[in-house]
Amino acid sequence: VIDQYILGIETSCDETAVSIVKNGREIISNVVASQIESHKRFGGVVPEIASRHHVEQMTLVLEEAMQQAEMTFKDLDAIAVTEGPGLVGALLIGVNAAKALAFAHQLPLIGVHHIAGHIYANQLISELQFPLLSLVVSGGHTELVYMKEHGSFEVIGETLDDAAGEAYDKVARTLHLPYPGGPHIDRMAAEGSPVINLPRAWLEPDSYNFSFSGLKSAVINTLHNAEQRGEVIDPNDLAASFQASVIDVLVTKTASAAEKYKVKQVLLAGGVAANRGLRAALEEKFKEFQDVELLIPPLSLCTDNAAMIAAAGSVLFTKGHRGNLRMNANPGLEL
Ligand code: KG4
Ligand code: ZN
Repeated sequence: VIDQYILGIETSCDETAVSIVKNGREIISNVVASQIESHKRFGGVVPEIASRHHVEQMTLVLEEAMQQAEMTFKDLDAIAVTEGPGLVGALLIGVNAAKALAFAHQLPLIGVHHIAGHIYANQLISELQFPLLSLVVSGGHTELVYMKEHGSFEVIGETLDDAAGEAYDKVARTLHLPYPGGPHIDRMAAEGSPVINLPRAWLEPDSYNFSFSGLKSAVINTLHNAEQRGEVIDPNDLAASFQASVIDVLVTKTASAAEKYKVKQVLLAGGVAANRGLRAALEEKFKEFQDVELLIPPLSLCTDNAAMIAAAGSVLFTKGHRGNLRMNANPGLEL
């Protein structure tokens, strides 16, 4: 058996990341340079600043990933890169770096969908078994994805408005917490109790779609109303109540889809997968499902990284997919 080594590159948002993955399963090196500090004072990611940081960081991160792996480009089989979706100026830096490397070292180039990457982060912890269902919850996406085999993605439900991470970040901003707000709300929720009654958007019966903008507005209204009445609301309780509503809907819909589609595995994916409340609630819920294995990646593989891009790239490479030097960043790429 000949081992396969893929170098992954990810620059779709505010993380410059390069990783080398062996046989789609084993992390050889994994370097992530976060720009969060530079965006914090603006309360969110500023696209122009993100692009500039990627330009500055790319070669450094690449060199570190090669050094950590103690490898040269001759040892690699392909270069995989996030083609989209994401910020176009940010994606372009990764795509151009990947094209330059592929051209210079005569290596195959593989374009990867960012969400496929998040899902395939799970392949770095366990072998995937089909059919499976993945709950993808990130800053830009909230989707239930059904996979009958490798590389086949059927979106059976998605958000009609805000993504889960977006709702976390917006609620956090209302509570004057720094960007990104998800981890702060997560911490506060653990200190508070879900005593405030907030809505849950179930939508039509049997719908696997989501909606979080009503919940976000309810949180803002609760704060304003309390302010006007001169009441004080414990922010930890508000965080706990908001989180309880998000988790209730995510877990209930995921469980009901897992049942209907008779899947073998349920995968958690995306930045919000780092949420401790969500992880615990899913683990609790899927104890009831004897035939379903629940996979939850470690925190470092939930938020943006390049190991997940190399893992997804490995599947495409094995299937014979090849990109070429005309590859372009595609901010609206479909799964
Ligand atoms: O996947 P990701 O790193 O970037 C995108 O592709 O969007 O996800 C970032 C999102 C942010 O909205 C952030 O607030 C959220 O993930 N997030 C969390 C937690 N850690 C990160 N949300 C809730 N709880 C967390 N612990
Ligand atoms: Zn992401």
